[in-house]
Amino acid sequence: MKRKIQIAIDGPASAGKSTVAKLVAKKLGYIYCDTGAMYRAVTYAAMKKDIRLDNDKDLNQLLQKLSIEFVPANPEQKVYVDNVDVTKEIRLPGITNNVSIVAAQSSVRTDLTKRQQQIAQAGGIVMDGRDIGTTVLPNAQVKIFLVASAKKRALRRYKENILKEINTPLDVLEQEIIERDYKDSHRKISPLVQASDAIEIDTTELTIDEVVREIMKIIENRLN
Ligand code: DC
Repeated sequence: MKRKIQIAIDGPASAGKSTVAKLVAKKLGYIYCDTGAMYRAVTYAAMKKDIRLDNDKDLNQLLQKLSIEFVPANPEQKVYVDNVDVTKEIRLPGITNNVSIVAAQSSVRTDLTKRQQQIAQAGGIVMDGRDIGTTVLPNAQVKIFLVASAKKRALRRYKENILKEINTPLDVLEQEIIERDYKDSHRKISPLVQASDAIEIDTTELTIDEVVREIMKIIENRLN
């Protein structure tokens, strides 16, 4: 049997990371871990408890007792916060537009990084996020950095939103994506940056299948 490895997929908002990461994990029989969902889960819990999203100390206290779980389900795995299914809620615009503030707090990053490293311990994992190849799994055997134009990313998010009955206009989405990219890549701790040993794939003109094929080729090369 082939050895089980760690695969890190990073990149800006809506570059297609989670869609392709899920498919790659399925093909390999690996675990998939959506680290963005964990930052969203903390944001959700903090907003529910009226904690200021830039209050590192209060967020740290919240995290001491907060459980965040991924539960396998069809067609999508579910996200539970303190045993409540928040899979849908964490994708709503109120969370999306605030998560970068929470993700910039040092205690949140330290805590979630530890949780992510524990999930990845056994290998056989595809993890997507912003700092997986640089901070969470710096020794991952395969590191991919997905990029795409802001216009194309906004269009993808727009189509996803329609299925979820979220009606934000396309130009607003594009602006929000640009702002989130800026915040994620300019924060002090673990900013969004391409790891020096990551392979960049520009998905602007590629289909999901084409991106998955390209990543599978890279993985096969690494495993052989
Ligand atoms: O991938 P996403 O849109 O669900 O991520 C939500 C936010 O979480 C994103 O704006 C930045 C933050 N994030 C992060 O800082 N580090 C990660 N590893 C994953 C996400």
